[in-house]
Amino acid sequence: MHLDRDDERILAGEFGETRQRFMELLVGLGAVYGAERLVPIASAQVSGASYKTIGDWGLEWLSSLDARAVVPAVLNPVGMDLERWQEMGISAEFARKQEEVVRVYRRLGIRLECTCTPYYLAITNYGDHLAWSESSAVCYANSVIGARTNREGGPSALAAALVGKTPFYGLHLVKNRRPTVVIEVEGAPEAPDGGWYGALGVLAGREVGARIPFFRGIRPNRDGLKSLGAAMAATGAVALFHVDRITPESRVFPFETGPLETITVTAAEVEAVWSDLPVEAVALGCPHCSGEELARIAALLDGRRTTKPLYVFAARRVIAEHPTEVAAIERSGARVYADTCMVVSPALERYAAIMTNSGKGLAYMPSMCGAEARLAPLEACVAAATS
Ligand code: F3S
Repeated sequence: MHLDRDDERILAGEFGETRQRFMELLVGLGAVYGAERLVPIASAQVSGASYKTIGDWGLEWLSSLDARAVVPAVLNPVGMDLERWQEMGISAEFARKQEEVVRVYRRLGIRLECTCTPYYLAITNYGDHLAWSESSAVCYANSVIGARTNREGGPSALAAALVGKTPFYGLHLVKNRRPTVVIEVEGAPEAPDGGWYGALGVLAGREVGARIPFFRGIRPNRDGLKSLGAAMAATGAVALFHVDRITPESRVFPFETGPLETITVTAAEVEAVWSDLPVEAVALGCPHCSGEELARIAALLDGRRTTKPLYVFAARRVIAEHPTEVAAIERSGARVYADTCMVVSPALERYAAIMTNSGKGLAYMPSMCGAEARLAPLEACVAAATS
């Protein structure tokens, strides 16, 4: 693998031991995947931020590092709202550990946005090379924005943040971004909400695994694309998808889908993923809500009171930019939390069954929260929380 003069100096330890170790990691990864060189990145997004997932070992390892990010770098959700953790029922012991994790990341120069929707922070453009590690954000960056990132692990994304580069292989190369399977959707409703695309993503992810699907027969908006990608990243290992005449690179590869395998999914199959069995709590915002989603939840809750816990998750900045919608949601008794989510916080471990409109939440809550998860459209989720 070709290294330039600066890479060689980092590798020789001229910029400290932490950068040297991380450069070794990047070079090792590049060698495994046949990268010819490293490529400079526009930003990094680092997962492994919740004390629930990294534990004492992770905290100890992070504490041993000594360097600062050289590109804009943001953190994935942590285990609690950093300001309202007591209201979430988080223990003081967990909060103390989580605050330590956050302090370490701050020292490493990682911005504490604590969100899986860093693309709402306007740091990403078409064609940018990135090193992002949250799988739903990777899918969105590649597919909806047309940026280029592999599915990084937490350590390799952190290495890229501290070095400013990542190995040039996989989805960084245009030739690897072609669709490899077609999904023909039959009978899709006119303008379904994100929950419909979450259910489609659950099915599609199981079918395609790590391939690159090209969808026909759907016209999702940005929130629908977000839900679709997050679910496929969870039930499969999808890191990039195209939607005919919607996503930017669908125009780059439009005539190359002819010889590909075609999988047909019907609207009836999608809707069969939904469940209306009883639950103890409802959770929305996986991935974190956009401003439009907060507005829709507020409108659905208008004049209603919650009868069971309703959690809504969004990035702190998105919450700050939508005070009216957030106030309307909270008037119902629901809570809008920042910095954390339904999966990486221990707060939802107290429920036996949780309803969500997120295909990714459906895939992860059983193993991460010990709860049965039910998928339903947004309207049904709000109805379950208020009836
Ligand atoms: Fe984000 Fe947590 Fe879902 S990190 S994508 S809200 S599991």
